[in-house]
Formats: sequence, structure tokens, C-alpha cells
Amino acid sequence: MPKRHVQFSFLAEPTDVNFGGKVHGGAAMKWIDQVSYACASAWSGEYSITVYVGGIRFLAPIKIGDLVELEAKVIYTGTSSMHIAVDVYAKKIKTDERTKTTHCIIVFVAVDQDNKPLKVPKWVPETKEDIVLEKYAINLMKRRKEIDETMKPYIEN
Ligand SMILES: CC(C)(COP(=O)(O)OP(=O)(O)OC[C@H]1O[C@@H](n2cnc3c(N)ncnc32)[C@H](O)[C@@H]1OP(=O)(O)O)[C@@H](O)C(=O)NCCC(=O)NCCS
Repeated sequence: MPKRHVQFSFLAEPTDVNFGGKVHGGAAMKWIDQVSYACASAWSGEYSITVYVGGIRFLAPIKIGDLVELEAKVIYTGTSSMHIAVDVYAKKIKTDERTKTTHCIIVFVAVDQDNKPLKVPKWVPETKEDIVLEKYAINLMKRRKEIDETMKPYIEN
């Protein structure tokens, strides 16, 4: 089985700061894109691109100097798409206290050199927890169709 899980951890640096002294939302979104890119590419063994990011909820701030931990894992695969669940945590270096700051699902598609979707290996859930996660991804996929319909007038050229 290909590798399904990727983790990043690093210190939040002063260059990541926003005007309020905490980590910029855009910095967190970039890290989410990077960790899920690594996860999707490791799973597919192919170059993979973001096709959808939904419902990023910022739950708590990340402070400069916190240890940022990102965990990405495949929770559903279609023909060419990989649905990746990403959790972001901020950890206090001195106390080890860990807070979940963000959660989202991001969808990647494996593509060839002409940007044509490629078939990806099927991920099959084995544990109870993974079955629940796959159901969660399928549920979101259904809801996304309604959201896409609502957004249609605004995303067409
Ligand atoms: C990704 C891309 C190649 C897909 O092309 P496409 O013509 O839509 O291809 P398809 O219709 O065959 O869809 C491919 C997969 O994407 C999925 N997909 C398409 N739109 C989606 C959406 N809104 N949400 C989730 N998945 C979506 C499809 O379900 C399909 O998955 P499957 O193969 O597992 O069934 C094309 O949309 C693209 O190039 N987008 C830009 C990607 C990019 O540049 N990302 C970086 C952002 S800066």
C-alpha cells in the first residue's frame, strides 16, 4: 500500500505574523496546501493538484514560537481524486500543551504532463475509525454538490 499519512512540524516564525501578532491565516492555508500536496503525491505516486478546498475553520490562533504540527491523511479516493483530511495543531514548546487550530478537507487530483486526470490507487478503509472518515468524506461530497450548484453563477466565466 502507498503511504497514506504525512506529518509536518516546524516553528511558527516571525515572518508568518499578521497585523495582530499571530500567524497569518494565509500562512496556515499555504501549509495545509503543502502537507496535503505531499500526502496526495505520496499516495498517487504522481504530480497532484488541488481541485477543491472546503470549509477551512480557524478554531484557535497560532502564536509565533509555537510548534506547528500538520497531519494529513487520505480518507477517500475516487478515480483520479484523493480526499485528504488535514488537522493543524499549535503546541507550546515548554509545556507540550497541544491545541487543534484548524481542520479541513482538501481534494487533490493526480494529473499527467498535459494536466489530464490519472487513475489513483484505491484507498480501502480497514479500521472502524477509517470507515467513519470515509463516510464523512462521502457525506461532504454530497453536500458539496449543493454548494457547487449555489456557487455556479459566480464561478462560470
Ligand atoms: C483538476 C483538473 C485537471 C480536473 O479537470 P476536470 O476536467 O474537472 O476533470 P474531471 O471532471 O475528470 O474531474 C477530475 C476529478 O476531479 C474531481 N472534481 C472536479 N471538481 C470537483 C470539486 N468541485 N470538488 C471536488 N472534486 C472535484 C472530480 O470528481 C474527479 O474526481 P474522480 O476522478 O475521482 O471522479 C482541472 O479542474 C484543473 O486543472 N483545475 C485547476 C487545478 C489547479 O490549478 N490547482 C491549483 C490551484 S492554484
